[in-house]
Order: sequence, then structure tokens, then C-alpha cells
Amino acid sequence: MIRSVVKGWGAYLPQRIVTNAELARQIDTSDEWITARTGIRERRIAAEGEFTSDLATHAATAALAKAGIAGDDVDLIVLATTTPDETFPATATAVQRRIGMTRGAAFDVQAVCSGFLFALATADNFIRLGQAQRALVIGAETMSRILDWEDRGTCVLFGDGAGAVVLEAAQGAGTADDRGILSSHLFSDGRLHDLLYVDGGPSTTQTAGHLRMEGREVFRHAVTNISAAIEAAHAANGLSSSAIDWFVPHQANARILDATARKVGVPTERVVLTIDRHGNTSAASVPLALVEAADDGRIKRGDLVLLEAMGGGLTWGSALIRW
Ligand code: UT7
Repeated sequence: MIRSVVKGWGAYLPQRIVTNAELARQIDTSDEWITARTGIRERRIAAEGEFTSDLATHAATAALAKAGIAGDDVDLIVLATTTPDETFPATATAVQRRIGMTRGAAFDVQAVCSGFLFALATADNFIRLGQAQRALVIGAETMSRILDWEDRGTCVLFGDGAGAVVLEAAQGAGTADDRGILSSHLFSDGRLHDLLYVDGGPSTTQTAGHLRMEGREVFRHAVTNISAAIEAAHAANGLSSSAIDWFVPHQANARILDATARKVGVPTERVVLTIDRHGNTSAASVPLALVEAADDGRIKRGDLVLLEAMGGGLTWGSALIRW
């Protein structure tokens, strides 16, 4: 059977670091509160005139270089973002133009913080059906542009960034020993809209709107939903948590990560954590963490890597990759 194997990876963070102390000078919050409740110490914020497509193009270029291929060797781009440059066309087409890819297709997917998981599953399905040979999967966000900077319950949580992987079709035996994406499981529940949404859009207010969240309720759903998505991944592959080499979760809150890792039985030293330095970068958070652990040598060829995320929609999902 055809598998989608990770051939390259790359990430990009805007230069500007905003610490908790800096935020505490602007709004009624404190480094102690943010650190204790979320694990976040600082986040990156995109410069004026620096757009989601810029972040995405940097990450994509790094991933192509790592894979040793050119932009025109790619025949599919799936870009996950909830902060596109424009309402249309898709930010993926801006990346397509800038990496010199002149064929195939490029489009965005919107599943907020779960976006990278949805994009990865989409690209994997294209590859496994023979409709693409090489795909760039990108998660890129400028969350700072849709935050209400007067709402201390949300603005301290998010950051900007981008991460990308190159997937390539390869022949596998159809077992859990194959390299590549072994499974993906996606879920959504539109009834939970009010827990996490943006209060604007082209059709409703003709504005981009601001992020609104019932933090405590989202937290409650996160641990339950993420654990269920992980159980689905294990069941589909006949594996248990003891087989997982690296757990790369969406970085929303260190307390959610601890609770989830405990619930599914992954030891803390196997969890990749970036939340302290990145905050919650929505669709960029999983690929940013993945790239960090692959670059510093933690994730090695043949390792079993478990990804998960949950976000607005609500949406959530998991993926198992043999690196
Ligand atoms: O990526 C998408 C998924 N998102 C998530 O998974 C986020 C899930 N939720 C969370 O991470 C947490 O619920 C938060 C970090 C957002 C909030 O933590 P919490 O422990 O649930 O706090 P809370 O919302 O219950 O608020 C506790 C107190 C409140 O004060 P009172 O009413 O107890 O006097 C808030 O007003 O903390 C106050 N508070 C703050 N204080 C200082 C809320 N935000 C802040 C702040 N600084 N930035």
C-alpha cells in the first residue's frame, strides 16, 4: 500500500519576543498567573507588514531544503490557517507562487487549532489515492491579528508562527512498521461553537472579528476529546502508549498536556513541549513542536510519533506517524 512518508520539515518564528512581563505592563495580568495557569512564558508576534503567507513561505522553504527538492517538485499544498492573508484567494496559493510551484493544486483548510491534523489527513488521502506524489503540509498563523488585546482571558494565550512538512508517496507493507502516516482520526462537533469562535467574518460583519473563548469549558472538553482521539489511533494500529516514542501535542495549555499525557499513559519525558516559548500558535503549534524535536535529534528515523490537537468548532484529531 502507498504511505505518505515525511521527507522534510521546517519552521519559522517571527523575530519579536513578547514576554509575560511585557504584557503585564499593558493589561491587568501577571507573569505568575500566566505561567502557573498555562505554562506560557513568552510568545512571538509577527512584525507589521509580516503576513501569514510570509511565515508559511519561510517554513515551506526550509522544509523543501531539508527534503532536497524544489518547489516545482511538489504537486499539492494544503495549508492550515485561521488567519489567512485575505478572505480569498487561499494563502496556500501565495506560498505556491513564492516557492515557484507551477503545477498541481494549493488550497487552505480551516479547522483552527486542529488545522494541521486536518491538513495532514487531507494530503495523506490525496497521496494514498495516487492523486499527488509530493505534498507540502503547512500550519501557519498570525493569531495576534484576531486577538482582543483588552481581553486578558485570551490575549495572553496565543502567538504567531509556522511549521511545514513535505510528504512523499512510498510503498509500504500495510503494517505499523511502515514508515509514514499510519493513521489519522478527525472529529468535529458544531454544537460547541459558542465555546471558541471569532465574532466576525465576511458574511456576517464584513470584519475579521476577534477570538472569543470560554476557557474553562474548552479545557474540560479538551482532555476528554483528545484522549478519545488518541485511543482511536491506538486501536486502529493495534498499539498502546508504550509503543509511542514521541508525543507531539497541540500546545494550548501545559496543564491540558499533563492531564492528557497522564490519562493516556505517555511519560512526561516523551512529551514535546514548546508552549513556554511559543504560546498557542493554533494550526502552527503541532508542526512547530514537531520540527523542533526533529531538528534537535529527539525524533529519529523509525520513531513512532503521536500528534493530537483540539480547537474551535469544536474540532479535534490525532495522527500516528512512523518517522
Ligand atoms: O487551542 C484551542 C484550545 N484552547 C484551550 O485548550 C484553552 C483551554 N483553557 C485554558 O487553557 C484555561 O481555561 C485558561 C488558561 C484560558 C484559563 O485558566 P483557568 O484556570 O480556567 O482560569 P479561569 O478562566 O477560570 O479564570 C480564573 C480567574 C478569573 O478570576 P476570578 O473570576 O476567579 O476572580 C479570571 O478573571 O483568573 C482570572 N484571569 C486572569 N487573571 C490574570 C483570567 N485571565 C487572566 C489573566 N491574568 N490573563
